Amino acid sequence: MKLKIAVLPGDGIGPEVINESQKILEAIAQRFDHSFEFESASVGAIAIDKFGNPLPEKTLALCKRSDAILFGAIGDPKYDNDPSAKVRPEQGLLALRKELGLFANIRPLTAYDKLTDQSPLKEHIIKGVDITIFRELTGGIYFGEKSLSQNEEVATDLCSYSKYEIERVAKLAFQAAQSRNNKLTLVDKANVLETSRLWRKQIALMAKDYPEVAVDYLFVDNAAMQLILNPKQFDVILTENMFGDILSDEASVIAGSIGLLASASIGNDNALFEPIHGSYPQAKELNIANPIASILSSAMLLDHFNLTEEANMIREAVEIAIQHEATTPDLNQTKPFSTEQVGEFIRQFILEENQINFEYLEIGQSTII
Ligand code: IPM
Ligand code: MN
Repeated sequence: MKLKIAVLPGDGIGPEVINESQKILEAIAQRFDHSFEFESASVGAIAIDKFGNPLPEKTLALCKRSDAILFGAIGDPKYDNDPSAKVRPEQGLLALRKELGLFANIRPLTAYDKLTDQSPLKEHIIKGVDITIFRELTGGIYFGEKSLSQNEEVATDLCSYSKYEIERVAKLAFQAAQSRNNKLTLVDKANVLETSRLWRKQIALMAKDYPEVAVDYLFVDNAAMQLILNPKQFDVILTENMFGDILSDEASVIAGSIGLLASASIGNDNALFEPIHGSYPQAKELNIANPIASILSSAMLLDHFNLTEEANMIREAVEIAIQHEATTPDLNQTKPFSTEQVGEFIRQFILEENQINFEYLEIGQSTII
């Protein structure tokens, strides 16, 4: 298959993790005889520095003419600590999602047996957890009208949803539930919010078309607690933009590191693949960031084009890396691998017909910092 992939490394650890996932995609192309063409462009704080715009025209144009986008991370502390900044790196990602109509953000969560001791939660609670979160991505409070009064003492962010916006993401979530364990949980705040009541009404209506899917409804405060108390009760979680943002970070605690969680942002004409983590500026250029979330995002990219065998091979390679502790310091406190070494181990597994390179494993574990 021929694919043109836009590469947007962004800020902080973005370039380092993207480097590894691009290498993995190149290895897949080589092994399966595909032709993937990569072209990079700036986004985020780095684009503000260079062009005064977190999403330069050129970057957007590249994304529009590409088949898929591989996205690194966005954000810089110099903006986080300056609430009066008029231009912010995050606007680049939000504008990209909106411009490309990436309305569904899919965030899978797997608890690897090998890593249960990395989570602060008890093993019997998290062992075997397998959840997919469907987060609505182009609506809600993120994109509603904003205002700041003249005296700068009152601010508003409008939360709005239409039936159409709810329906299109819900359809994907119902279909995912059908292909998984036939359970869908809508997370909302319908006891307080009008938008949540619209979500509930719409989901109840659609549930009739998916009789085999068991649907339940949870208020977001309770859902936040249930995720920690008994995450195994969940199969597919469907929720609005901001609740999905918050709950997916919380859910990553189950996996043991936020550096493991990938995502796909899907629209009708475009698709973007990014780790759920941020730019982790403290780790920038230290070669310690976990590249697995980005690598698993590239597996989701392959899934999107029905390259299932290829995607599964990446996931298998990641599992082998985890199994053999070829992992970065967030998961491996005794003999950590560097970002590059984790990527290289996974790459070699793919290129060497799924053979584990034990020699490299030893080298990896002895040469680190
Ligand atoms: C995410 C991030 C973004 C979001 C930020 C960087 C705008 O936290 O993708 O989860 O809030 O959606
Ligand atoms: Mn987030």
